[in-house]
Amino acid sequence: MSSHWSRYWEGKTHGEHRYRTEDWLEKYAREQLFHITSYGAKPCEQSILVDIGCGAAELTVYYEPFFAKIYAVDSSSSMLETAQRRLDKFASKKIQLVQSDALYFAEKIDIADVIISNELAQYLTKEQISKHLNECLKVLNPKGIIIVSLIIDPDKYWLWQIGYLRESRIPLLKFIPMLLLNQVRKVYKRIMQQIPSDMGYSHRKEAIKEICTSKNLDVEFVNTLYSEYRYTALIRRMTNHRKKQHLARSR
Ligand SMILES: C[S@@+](CC[C@H](N)C(=O)[O-])C[C@H]1O[C@@H](n2cnc3c(N)ncnc32)[C@H](O)[C@@H]1O
Repeated sequence: MSSHWSRYWEGKTHGEHRYRTEDWLEKYAREQLFHITSYGAKPCEQSILVDIGCGAAELTVYYEPFFAKIYAVDSSSSMLETAQRRLDKFASKKIQLVQSDALYFAEKIDIADVIISNELAQYLTKEQISKHLNECLKVLNPKGIIIVSLIIDPDKYWLWQIGYLRESRIPLLKFIPMLLLNQVRKVYKRIMQQIPSDMGYSHRKEAIKEICTSKNLDVEFVNTLYSEYRYTALIRRMTNHRKKQHLARSR
């Protein structure tokens, strides 16, 4: 992890979700479980889940009933300490906490049927996402799936930042100055070579698709239920048939 983001998360004790009540955390987890099943994986008593960037296990505990074993991986020790207290509170038996980086976790995991990362992609550059997927592929069962969840979409995020996509619209007269201010802020940050936003990096779907295609992975994008400016990537290995189709198209 870049030292900026490791410093950012060290000392933190929760995942900074918009709503943090248990019923919301359970809803967020249920959305992920829905994607897992809708993409053809059947969580069952034999399957192994790896939750990368699990944070304080706020969602992980709600995945537990559906899997045989869960590896919950995070690089921040304060998040993992809070996660351990949460596992004790929920009397979790099947979740194993692992301190590791999303780019180097494979040696600590045997095999995975499903690998999920919720709100992690924004702390990885495009190159790091590519490395992260390589690491996932080292442990992913041939028919397994990877869910990269809640990626920030730059085309929607700026609209959110200037007040659009929210429940109450802002008046046009206020919108134009905010739009200009936002552009100036972006240019300034680029010049100063700062992290593009306090939220981390945003990634276009095309960029994610390009990474996946280069690794012979199929990817499908879905909208998210509870965030206006994020999307989720559902990823799996291409079948031989798909590889042939892909090769023929690229000739
Ligand atoms: C927004 S929180 C999300 C936590 C959890 N997935 C959830 O939805 O509640 C992001 C988490 O990713 C972790 N993280 C960020 N970069 C990481 C990396 N390169 N390797 C492992 N964990 C990372 C942080 O420590 C933090 O706990």
